[in-house]
Amino acid sequence: MIARSWLFVPGDSERKLAKGRENPADVLLLDLEDSVSHTRRGIAREMVRDYLKVHTERARQKLFVRINPLDTDSALQDLAVVMAGAPDGIVLPKVKSAAEVHTLSQYLSALEVREGLVPGATKILCVATETAASLLTFHTYLENVPPRLVGMTWGGEDLAAALGVSDNRHPSSGEYDHPFLLARSLCLATARAIDVQPVGVVYLNFRDAAGLEADCLRDRRAGFIGKVAIHPDQCEVINRAFTPSAEEIAHARRVIELFESNPGLGTVGLDGVMLDMPHLKQARNLIALAEAVDGTR
Ligand code: COA
Ligand code: MG
Repeated sequence: MIARSWLFVPGDSERKLAKGRENPADVLLLDLEDSVSHTRRGIAREMVRDYLKVHTERARQKLFVRINPLDTDSALQDLAVVMAGAPDGIVLPKVKSAAEVHTLSQYLSALEVREGLVPGATKILCVATETAASLLTFHTYLENVPPRLVGMTWGGEDLAAALGVSDNRHPSSGEYDHPFLLARSLCLATARAIDVQPVGVVYLNFRDAAGLEADCLRDRRAGFIGKVAIHPDQCEVINRAFTPSAEEIAHARRVIELFESNPGLGTVGLDGVMLDMPHLKQARNLIALAEAVDGTR
């Protein structure tokens, strides 16, 4: 699956849950973790399960649930309750290594049997950079990661707390500073290495649509597909930014056609620019992305 906008919705807010459904987000991330207070966790679980049971039509918008970290008592309780609503996927936060993705996958296999669901139907998006250990364990994803893992995203806020960082931004540029750029790059490279979707990090200033758009385009240039959102207004901007434009598609088609009509050539010129095999690959990737995005609409 490919999804452009992944909107977090606090799982204990009736208003926000209702609002999420009307939103153009490709995926809602129904949250049981940090946006819900401890005291409301039990209520949130049941609200999320009931919401999933009511909203069984998921062609336009998938419904994932963010559970609590696997090393907390809440995680299994979250899963035991929400799996009755057959979520399309589970978001796994504060991961330390791929071992936790394997463990979650086994829990899901058992619960899918209990609920009579298709084995492997429940996908996983992991938030890969929220612990200090996570920065040192990306290699663990390179072998036998469960096919349920469809996406990987990163986070700068929990990581800042984990590393003891007082400000994760560079004081003059306002851009993420070093450990965070490393986290971003490792997330991207790992996701690409294992062929899962790299999903861009949340843009916190939810009233700044222009800033969000610029951030989306920066993510897209870097290789990310889609972005996490925290406010309903962000999803339209994200969807637009991560949908290949007509001009991009036309250019990619020209590149592919040029190589296909000159099968003996390894390198050609187009509009005064040299093109070789990596450009052909990029053009094909763009067409594949455009088709995948089209398939989700
Ligand atoms: N999902 C669905 N609806 C949302 C929403 C969300 N994430 N965020 C806001 N809304 C709704 C509000 O309820 C409000 O609707 P209403 O007038 O019918 O009540 C409308 O959108 C406008 O909201 P606005 O007033 O602009 O924002 P706010 O001050 O109410 O909320 C936040 C701001 C940040 C608290 C809110 O956007 C939020 O809860 N975001 C998600 C946070 C989260 O999940 N974090 C964890 C991941 S990092
Ligand atoms: Mg968090």
